[in-house]
Amino acid sequence: MHNDNGDTAMLEVRNLVKEFGGLRAVDGVSFKLTRGNITGLVGPNGAGKSTLFNTIAGFHRPTSGSIEFLGRAIGGLPPHQIFKHGLVRTFQIPRPFAAMTVLENTMLVPTDQSGEYFWNNWFRRSAVRAEERACRERAREILTFVGLEKLSGEFASNLSGGQQKLLELARVLMSDPSLILLDEPGAGVNPTLLVTIMDKLQELNQRGITFLIIEHNMDLIMRLCNPVLVMANGRLILEAPPDVVRKDPQVLEAYLGGVPA
Ligand SMILES: Nc1ncnc2c1ncn2[C@@H]1O[C@H](COP(=O)(O)OP(=O)(O)OP(=O)(O)O)[C@@H](O)[C@H]1O
Ligand SMILES: [Mg+2]
Repeated sequence: MHNDNGDTAMLEVRNLVKEFGGLRAVDGVSFKLTRGNITGLVGPNGAGKSTLFNTIAGFHRPTSGSIEFLGRAIGGLPPHQIFKHGLVRTFQIPRPFAAMTVLENTMLVPTDQSGEYFWNNWFRRSAVRAEERACRERAREILTFVGLEKLSGEFASNLSGGQQKLLELARVLMSDPSLILLDEPGAGVNPTLLVTIMDKLQELNQRGITFLIIEHNMDLIMRLCNPVLVMANGRLILEAPPDVVRKDPQVLEAYLGGVPA
């Protein structure tokens, strides 16, 4: 799909609204994501960033507006269908299965395995075993990529906050996505691990994955993201390169809540 600028728009959101009772958490948001970009999404607490992600990824039904992914209308589809089209998201607060190991958590992500079906279990046991082997191998490769290979036998509940963020990343990579929405990948992560995460994201981007990243850490935004979208009170107030966003008076005011400095 090509937009007027000749860029390839991968995701196009038009006039998106999400209300909770009387609260308009997302209030008429429109934007396009260009394939190959790492786009940032910033804004004060409660601006509606996570709600926007949840609505795009199918966890909330839009109140109104449209969402197109790769030219296909996905607004209102359930998360598993959106996921199958190659759009995945991570959660602001990671939700691994605590009583399962890191490897098991990673292998849980559906990759259209035939083992789920009764008939296959009965009649195609060897094929199922081969698929499980392939899934395990893929999970191990991905855990090595994110640097969790040594912890693959550990219970997910024993991981630190930053390691859980890496497990979230590993899990979304299992499905071979083309667009990943990351909700605060840097939150609760120490500076050394943050550098590792940024390097991994850059490498994945070079391998062709497009990203939309919510983040409060300005170092991450400045280093990785262009353009940056700014949300305040449910609305998009600016789309600009990161150095412009950082100095924009409207953005400063949104963060300070209009209080004079
Ligand atoms: N499931 C829900 N039910 C009711 N209100 C909700 C729900 N989810 C979010 N909200 C409200 O919507 C508004 C936007 O919340 P959201 O979590 O999207 O903000 P955010 O920009 O992600 O903030 P933060 O930076 O703190 O994560 C808030 O006022 C929040 O209380
Ligand atoms: Mg949030």
